[in-house]
Amino acid sequence: MSSINDTEVSFDDFDEIINPRPEETDFDRVVEASISRRGFLGGALAFGSFAMLNSTFLSTSAKTAEDRFAFEAITANSNDAVTVPTGYKADVLIRWGDPLWSDVPEFDDATRGTAASQARAFGDNTDGMEVFSHEGKTLLIVNNEYTNRKIIWGNREGGKAANDDDIAKGMNAHGISVVELENKDGSWHPVKDSPYNRRITPESEMELTGPAAGHALLKTAIDETGTRSLGTWNNCGNGQTPWGTYLTCEENFNGYFSSSDENIEISPELKRYGIGKKDWGYGWAKIDDRFDISKAPNEPNRAGYIVEIDPRDPNSTPKKRTALGRFKHENAECVVNKDGHIVVYMGDDERGEFMYRFVSKGIYAPGAETDSLLNEGTLSVAKFNEDGTGEWLELTPETTGMASEAEIVVYARMAGSKVGATTMDRPEWIAANPTADEVYCALTNNKNRGIKTNAGGDETPVGGPNPREANKYGQIVRWQPKDGDHTAKDFDWDLFVIAGNPNIHQDDRAGSKNVNADNMFNSPDGLKFDTNGLLWIQTDGNYSNAKDFEGQGNNQMLAGDPVTGEIRRFLVGPKECEVTGATWSPDRRTMFVGIQHPGERGDSHWPNGGDSVPRSAIIAVTREDGGIIG
Ligand code: FEO
Ligand code: CA
Ligand code: CA
Repeated sequence: MSSINDTEVSFDDFDEIINPRPEETDFDRVVEASISRRGFLGGALAFGSFAMLNSTFLSTSAKTAEDRFAFEAITANSNDAVTVPTGYKADVLIRWGDPLWSDVPEFDDATRGTAASQARAFGDNTDGMEVFSHEGKTLLIVNNEYTNRKIIWGNREGGKAANDDDIAKGMNAHGISVVELENKDGSWHPVKDSPYNRRITPESEMELTGPAAGHALLKTAIDETGTRSLGTWNNCGNGQTPWGTYLTCEENFNGYFSSSDENIEISPELKRYGIGKKDWGYGWAKIDDRFDISKAPNEPNRAGYIVEIDPRDPNSTPKKRTALGRFKHENAECVVNKDGHIVVYMGDDERGEFMYRFVSKGIYAPGAETDSLLNEGTLSVAKFNEDGTGEWLELTPETTGMASEAEIVVYARMAGSKVGATTMDRPEWIAANPTADEVYCALTNNKNRGIKTNAGGDETPVGGPNPREANKYGQIVRWQPKDGDHTAKDFDWDLFVIAGNPNIHQDDRAGSKNVNADNMFNSPDGLKFDTNGLLWIQTDGNYSNAKDFEGQGNNQMLAGDPVTGEIRRFLVGPKECEVTGATWSPDRRTMFVGIQHPGERGDSHWPNGGDSVPRSAIIAVTREDGGIIG
């Protein structure tokens, strides 16, 4: 989810309009913040964060860099094109609106399609994705997070829906796309009419599973059982399970609900999740009462989950896994612990919200039953201490004082507040290093750090893994579970990188010492490890290339070396995009990368050029020598 355009507010700012938060001006808070900040910058050597990071990384980066990176860094730019290093190329694989079946018309720049064509074409705003191999086939499954109203309705007066079909077209641009890929003449192409091709939209039937399934909070007039819901939307990052299913993550689900009753009272629970009387501008309640909270008050409780999808069975019913909690899910990083427990790490992407961990009750065994693994287990939230240690706090009726596990998962944010979780700088993607017992989370930015509470009124003091007030640039935190056990209560943490602009600033806004004029960036978001243990970092930040962000250019993708701390820029996206979602072909010779919302403010014609409508698309990045890429 990206930044504000001329007439639309971002999801993050929308939430604060719905639920305004007071500025924190009390004297104690200000003093506390300044002490914390001094502690971080001056005394953190003993605690393994800022200073330790700098000294460790500086000592080794020059020596080992050549062995770890297979490319020369590229410079920042503001071009309306994808830029990759010498020796690499980037081809467009599939764009918003490309038909998945041959009876669907090609995308029409003049009309931008219809509800019917969009339901059978590739969705908009590509995000998390994964490639699966199945019976000799290669299947790509992709989140289509949302749609930019000014683009999808750009043929209409004022960029607004002109009729119900326009609203339904917008709805159908959301969800999931599954498409078979084939390799012809050395490059990948979508296979139209493949029996595996599928669109899952906000209208597709889902099963509600886990502790909240069947609970009164999930029952509605059209589903009195509380076990069947319709659709998934605002699907951001993803995960995959070791048993070969895809996890899609419902993020800003709140922005689609509105109320036809102006006098409706907005409960604290609705406020905490950013639900109010007005939606984000999509108008779904005009065509479907499910999105009118005065008519369907429990419908918002049926969104905000991790959803498990089997891409190999186009007739399978996606399952919402309520045990993993309800919040604004970024992604779901799944780890098989050494004792067989499934551990899922998850971030809640909102200013001052929390990081979560789910540990399955059962043990994973290849070939054995897996359906219960994501239904039964323990949800915890992260608490970071200033001294470089941290712990996972379990969310149970005993620890939270809440009535039941069902209530805890539905109102996970409130449960996290009750146990004193650390308020974070917008946790985005989490990635576990396949070559070490450590996990990374992108904390993208947080203009409210040290200034405003989170939506639940929890303080957001400066310090620990959130070291800068009004954090503009973001950072990446990493932690090592105690004894390499991902189910352990305790962990140690440090910061892998603190983004900044060393050209402009000499204070903590310059960033950590592995940030320099040649590799600087802002707002880390997507994170994925490759099989070699390199961390790929994608950005969704300020692309103005001016003021605090001068010299940083368009949003981009970089690679980081967890051992040395070195970071190199690999790819720069076109104008006004974010770079989001990454996965590899089975032979690891192609890296698929998502380019989301090029031209969100109206200044891009990528990928087709000329006067064309800008279209979110997935690109296939390959080496010109055909070599392995990650
Ligand atoms: Fe959809 Fe937090 O990014
Ligand atoms: Ca983001
Ligand atoms: Ca994101």
